[in-house]
Amino acid sequence: MGFLYFFSLETWILLIAFICIFIMYGHWTFGVFEKMGVLGPKPYMYWGSIGRFNSVYYLDDHGGARKYGRVWGTYEFRRPVLAVMDPDMLKIILVKECFTYFTNRRNLRLNGDLYDSVSIAEDDQWRRIRNILSPSFASGRIKEMFSTMKHHSRKLTDSLRSKADNAEVIAIKDFFGPYSMDVIASTAFSVDLDSFSNPSGPLINHAGKMFRISPLLFIFQACFPIFLPLLELLGVSFFPKSSSDFCRAFLKKVREDRDRNSHQVPRDMLQYMINSQTANKEKQNNGLTDHEINSQLTIFLLAGYETSAATLSFLAYNLALKPEVMTRLQEEIDSTFPDKGPVQYEALMQMEYLDGVVNESLKLYPPAARMERIAKETVQIKGITIPKDMGVMVPVYALHRDPELWTDPEEFKPERFSKENKQNINPYTYLPFGIGPRNCLGMRLALVTVKLALVEVLQRYSFSVCKETEIPLEMDPQGLLGSLRPIKLKVVTRSNA
Ligand code: HEM
Repeated sequence: MGFLYFFSLETWILLIAFICIFIMYGHWTFGVFEKMGVLGPKPYMYWGSIGRFNSVYYLDDHGGARKYGRVWGTYEFRRPVLAVMDPDMLKIILVKECFTYFTNRRNLRLNGDLYDSVSIAEDDQWRRIRNILSPSFASGRIKEMFSTMKHHSRKLTDSLRSKADNAEVIAIKDFFGPYSMDVIASTAFSVDLDSFSNPSGPLINHAGKMFRISPLLFIFQACFPIFLPLLELLGVSFFPKSSSDFCRAFLKKVREDRDRNSHQVPRDMLQYMINSQTANKEKQNNGLTDHEINSQLTIFLLAGYETSAATLSFLAYNLALKPEVMTRLQEEIDSTFPDKGPVQYEALMQMEYLDGVVNESLKLYPPAARMERIAKETVQIKGITIPKDMGVMVPVYALHRDPELWTDPEEFKPERFSKENKQNINPYTYLPFGIGPRNCLGMRLALVTVKLALVEVLQRYSFSVCKETEIPLEMDPQGLLGSLRPIKLKVVTRSNA
């Protein structure tokens, strides 16, 4: 009992009070779902219910859906998050009656310089920026960029030639990554990065790092949101500062070069944003500021690079595992562009089986495996009262593999997206690009980028598994959906290539 005298009575009282507050604070938010009448895994102090079924967050969602159905409550550390994969509720939240209450994503505040990018901006600022950007992603504009994209798809097929000739095992993302980055850089600001000559170039390196949020920082801000304003003031950001500084400096230089060579005006996204500044000035309207332009370009690099590269890598993997699907796709490619003829935009976009293959691969491996919104007001949807400021998370991966919504949900079956079958798919059950006014801004560009690369590669080569191919893949718990280790395949030159 001697230890009792180690501290004074006042110190003991303070210590016990501190321990009680610490414990209470760690549990404080945990009754929310009980009050709402929503089931979910039991949370633990501070940790919440993260990783209850699997340490990979999207596989964890899959476990949650299997146990609790299409709506359940989870605690991301102390923060309550409502998981919703009920198609009717998703329609109301993402598109129809309640979109005005769910316009924004969760703002975790530590956004550094990217606070005014379209994906993070909120309400009126988001609307203004999105309205200015949308026309530069319209089909007509993408069609204009098609020849630039073909320049890069040609480099992609050239770079695969020696690998095929030497029957080398390749990490497929080392090829689709540079291609995706080059397409985005050239369509966004007309710079040919030539990443194939420099696959570990700084832009690829930094863009790859930006989605890797520090786990410690994530845990800290979720457990102690009270410190967020202070962290923000100190300039702490989820996006590694060195990477966002690099992107910003790079884009500043691009902009300066553009201003110096103002007699040559490229038709790219940057120019579109610059033009909107002057057009809006004349109309006394709010165009994009220079800071906003930089933020949009950075977010295009981030949002576009990793997602497109991952989509292409999983496509190659799925096709290598299902050679009969690949052969059927190659037949469609050969009949659409005979004798390995040049790929044309309209014909590419009309290829039905190709469309099915791409959709199906995005169904099994949606790079954005979760989406989210935040409730601006308290609203009632299908009998559930969602309180103001509660995060709503859409477990896209789990939705795409729901056995009641899809037959053979884990199978790679492109025919489920055939013209006849497509009509029977509820649009709120298939969300690789989100849906509604806040869906993926780059969806059209991404689909053309992916389809073009796939067709050009499959005109000349086939993918094949080898002993280094991991089957099944072990998934990465961090970042966007991806495999823990690189996907390794062989490319084989087609006999008539
Ligand atoms: C296969 C590739 C891609 C996939 C799977 C993908 C998927 C997504 C998803 C799921 C969202 C969230 C949608 C929502 O919350 O409803 C999103 C948002 C966004 N994506 Fe993509 N994306 C891809 C490529 C691109 C590309 C190439 C760009 C631009 C160059 C881009 C730009 C954006 C932007 C700016 C947003 C935020 C839109 C806003 O908040 O208004 N994405 N994307």
